[in-house]
Amino acid sequence: MALGEKSKILIFGGTGYIGKFMVKASIFLGYPTYVYARPITPQTTPSKMDLHKDFQSVGVTIVQTYREELNEHEKIVSVLWEVDIVISMLAYPQVLDQLKIIDAIKVVDNIKQFVQLEQQQPPPFNIFLHHHLTRFLPSDFGCEENRVTPLAPFQDFLDKKKKIRRVIEEIGIPYTFVSANCFGAYFVNILLRPHEKQDDIVVYGSGKAKEHATVLSFIGPQKNIVSQLELISLWEKKTNRSFNTVYVPEEELVRLSKTTPAPNNIPVSILHNIFVKGELMNFGLGEDDIEASGLYPDLEYTTIDQLLDIFLVNPPKPTITAFE
Ligand SMILES: NC(=O)c1ccc[n+]([C@@H]2O[C@H](COP(=O)([O-])OP(=O)(O)OC[C@H]3O[C@@H](n4cnc5c(N)ncnc54)[C@H](OP(=O)(O)O)[C@@H]3O)[C@@H](O)[C@H]2O)c1
Repeated sequence: MALGEKSKILIFGGTGYIGKFMVKASIFLGYPTYVYARPITPQTTPSKMDLHKDFQSVGVTIVQTYREELNEHEKIVSVLWEVDIVISMLAYPQVLDQLKIIDAIKVVDNIKQFVQLEQQQPPPFNIFLHHHLTRFLPSDFGCEENRVTPLAPFQDFLDKKKKIRRVIEEIGIPYTFVSANCFGAYFVNILLRPHEKQDDIVVYGSGKAKEHATVLSFIGPQKNIVSQLELISLWEKKTNRSFNTVYVPEEELVRLSKTTPAPNNIPVSILHNIFVKGELMNFGLGEDDIEASGLYPDLEYTTIDQLLDIFLVNPPKPTITAFE
């Protein structure tokens, strides 16, 4: 990469719920952006096709795969040659498939290291190439997985994510692990369900545990730390309505986590961890941690209050991350 050039970013899972935010932010900030996407087939939904067109219209390079899975090693390697940063936004079913991305990064980085060694030779044996090792951001973007103790189904999910972290650390590729907490309005939408215009709002546990309801790409700005009951009260003010609160007690969530068949026992366990135990708020930052809103003080984040204004005029459709 030449001096002053913007890093090129490759995103796996860029067509997913969180991935879309990442792709748009990357383009907005002026980074050449590539999305490694599954092929368009006769079964592809019109909305997915529209998304591909939207991406292309703002300059995203879509790298279409031939097959569904991430099995095209040569293809991944060839795209990795072109980029500097790889962000994975793949969901639960593909967590361990990220090992295939890591394998490809290892191949490319080994050659880059060799080229860098060559550069240390005197002319004419050196080659004038600026190669940086690929930075990888695996698909974390949830809770800080080493500092929570959730129910078994969520723990098994996190163990898979942890495995990816350990492999990355072991092989020594540059990395950033992102804990996004309640990210991209996902949980605010799940709790308030503004699109359905219903009278009931479900409260998990007592509703008093605080959580990081991060709206955009920041972790823990103070204004976005709210409890479910505070969120409902804010929504009532915005909508000028009064909702029936339907309480689901902790014991019921624990029971469901044991009786619901996998993988649908995972979302139940996530709700329990975030909203009943409030574990996103149970720890401080360690020595090696950076709080993102401190890292980018000039960027403005969307507050919960602003998000609810958006919900009023443009209520998002219900969404649920893929578990199968
Ligand atoms: N903190 C939070 O609030 C929060 C909320 C939600 C998710 N997350 C985390 O964010 C990450 C992404 O989740 P998400 O909800 O955005 O996921 P998602 O919407 O389910 O999207 C998954 C992505 O994976 C792709 N994909 C699906 N099956 C695939 C396959 N067989 N081979 C290759 N690609 C495949 C999808 O492509 P298609 O578009 O072609 O289907 C899509 O781009 C996960 O780590 C999740 O745990 C965090």
